Amino acid sequence: MPPTPQPLDYLPHLPPKRDYGIGVVGAGSIARAGHLPAYRSAGFNVVGIYDADTAKSEALAAEFSTVSFPSLEALLESPDVAVVDIATPTISHPPLVEAAVAAGKHVLCQKPLTYDIAKAESMVRDAADAGVRLAVNQNGRWDQAFRSVYALKQRGDLGDLTYVQIDRVGPLRWELWPWLWDRPRVLIVEDAIHFLDVVRFILGEPEWLFAAGFHAGDERIKGETSAVITLAWPDGAHGLLLNHAGIWDDDTHATYRFEGTAGVAKGELGVFYNFPYGREDTLAYRSERYDAAWIAPELQGKWIPDALVGPMAELFTAIHEDREPMNSGADNLRTLYLVEAAYDSISEGRAIRPRTPQGQ
Ligand SMILES: NC(=O)c1ccc[n+]([C@@H]2O[C@H](COP(=O)([O-])OP(=O)(O)OC[C@H]3O[C@@H](n4cnc5c(N)ncnc54)[C@H](O)[C@@H]3O)[C@@H](O)[C@H]2O)c1
Repeated sequence: MPPTPQPLDYLPHLPPKRDYGIGVVGAGSIARAGHLPAYRSAGFNVVGIYDADTAKSEALAAEFSTVSFPSLEALLESPDVAVVDIATPTISHPPLVEAAVAAGKHVLCQKPLTYDIAKAESMVRDAADAGVRLAVNQNGRWDQAFRSVYALKQRGDLGDLTYVQIDRVGPLRWELWPWLWDRPRVLIVEDAIHFLDVVRFILGEPEWLFAAGFHAGDERIKGETSAVITLAWPDGAHGLLLNHAGIWDDDTHATYRFEGTAGVAKGELGVFYNFPYGREDTLAYRSERYDAAWIAPELQGKWIPDALVGPMAELFTAIHEDREPMNSGADNLRTLYLVEAAYDSISEGRAIRPRTPQGQ
């Protein structure tokens, strides 16, 4: 008889200390649909919210029974705020991170940390010099399906991974992000970055990357709306990330497949159906360990809001244990280097060996 598979360890591990005060900056769609509901469900302590648009800040604070700070300074001066949680448009991340770090606060910043690699490197240095933790909200690492694949790999059910494919096709809700419309770079840095970060998390650091990207969609958008990224790892594993935000919704789908020498895992990514509400991911896997029979556990929770508990829980645990979080700014530099490599590959028409942190 083959062994019965144990339940998968995919739900976020709650921190030993949960009452660090959170000051949320940004009261937009992800704060409202994701951050605040996630923190409420995890029992985290939201001290207050600040948004440059006071009416939005006050409305969200009222909805979640917290206070609205009148200014960023008021939030940063509050001794009750230990962690500044940044959920504003990407262009505003660097000055907000810098102000929070200068005020001696730990920071969780939404992805992408910044559009500017040199700035990302200096933010990481500043946080280290100030003795505070800087983490990035790459919550795909806590997506229920991707975490399950990670757990399967960790316990050996998939063997050595040989192939990954993530395939997302369908229009995006560009009306939610007018601040993206004029950006020269869009889809890879804002959306495919999740896939790049997740494959690093599960397979490690890729050695080569080749990307094609172009504008194939909504006329409001100036940057690329379609991207195909091919990756190769040093051990020969390879992968294909497809992200096509076209204009036709007749075949909207978002699937993943991770194949290894001992098993395979595949399913759907629920967040991309009816964003931002989405639906639960699906998972089916089979492994030599269980006579290759298909196993399809039902996954609890959704990308938004549930996968937003993990990044903050990990930061809290790291603060408590006085270590770097696994979603640290320093770790995230490598994800940003992959983003940069993808754009370099598109403009130069060749495969790129992604940059590595200095000295590695
Ligand atoms: N991890 C995920 O799954 C996920 C999903 C969606 C968005 N995001 C990221 O979250 C961030 C916010 O996205 P969103 O969809 O909520 O945007 P949004 O436009 O809905 O909200 C942004 C809010 O920030 C406020 N704001 C702008 N500049 C500010 C400043 N300097 N100080 C204070 N408030 C400011 C705006 O008034 C607005 O209320 C982006 O970085 C985006 O990439 C992540």
